[in-house]
Amino acid sequence: MKFIAIANQKGGVGKTTTAVNLAAALAEAGHRALLLDLDPQANATSGLGVAPATGASIYPVMIGERAVAQQIRSTAQERLSIIPSEIDLAGCEIEIARLDHPLHKLREVLQPLHDNQSFDYLIMDCPPSLGILMTNSLAAADGLLIPVQSEFYALEGISKILDLTKRMQEQGLNPGLQLIGVLLTMFDARTRLSQQVLTELQSHLPDKIFNTIIPRSIRLGEAPSFGQSILQYDPHGVGAHSYRQLAMEFVARLR
Ligand SMILES: Nc1ncnc2c1ncn2[C@@H]1O[C@H](COP(=O)(O)OP(=O)(O)O)[C@@H](O)[C@H]1O
Ligand SMILES: [Mg+2]
Repeated sequence: MKFIAIANQKGGVGKTTTAVNLAAALAEAGHRALLLDLDPQANATSGLGVAPATGASIYPVMIGERAVAQQIRSTAQERLSIIPSEIDLAGCEIEIARLDHPLHKLREVLQPLHDNQSFDYLIMDCPPSLGILMTNSLAAADGLLIPVQSEFYALEGISKILDLTKRMQEQGLNPGLQLIGVLLTMFDARTRLSQQVLTELQSHLPDKIFNTIIPRSIRLGEAPSFGQSILQYDPHGVGAHSYRQLAMEFVARLR
């Protein structure tokens, strides 16, 4: 089983859209996927039609009140399960900060998932900050996927998370953490800016930019309000196609 963090400290870059639709595409392709919503905003949770409920998140697990298996719920899609989020998850950061080994808490409580191998991939949707929940996610992850919006400051945005990743590797917090790739989202092939961002990223991080690029698509923006992944909402559209392609490239890169 592989643990994957979908992270970027910037909001609105397509983290949740990618976490939901990558997990859904992996499930559709026959893999057993578990989506872990680590953002108190609970967008991934509601985006899959699950209502955020008090006590249903990873929070009680992090503070030792429940086992991770108790929080796993099935979704409308076969092979796709979720550990939902809840607003209270915001308070979790403060509580974890007081515990011993606060940065390894998530890794510790997720260990049973590694042990019983009921899933092939754990996809973690991170909140938009370099806080304790995101650091915990990076400390628990085998791999990191960074979505970036195709806009002018894309590279500056990811340098922070790349620095954090490097520090975590060097300081022994997670020496095995691997950057799987940087994913361009909301790409508009008609604009020069989108092309420039792509070229710039490719020159700074050769081999680390996914060949798959997620285009800007109205359907991708609409799907969450129907509580559906793009594979359910618009299975034959360009959004579903690109996330299926991402899933294939993702699996190949992890091999
Ligand atoms: N490829 C896309 N095309 C159009 N809209 C998108 C696309 N990806 C994301 N969005 C929309 O942009 C907004 C921010 O995306 P989201 O995935 O929630 O970002 P994050 O989780 O990084 O904050 C959401 O309203 C989402 O529906
Ligand atoms: Mg989000």
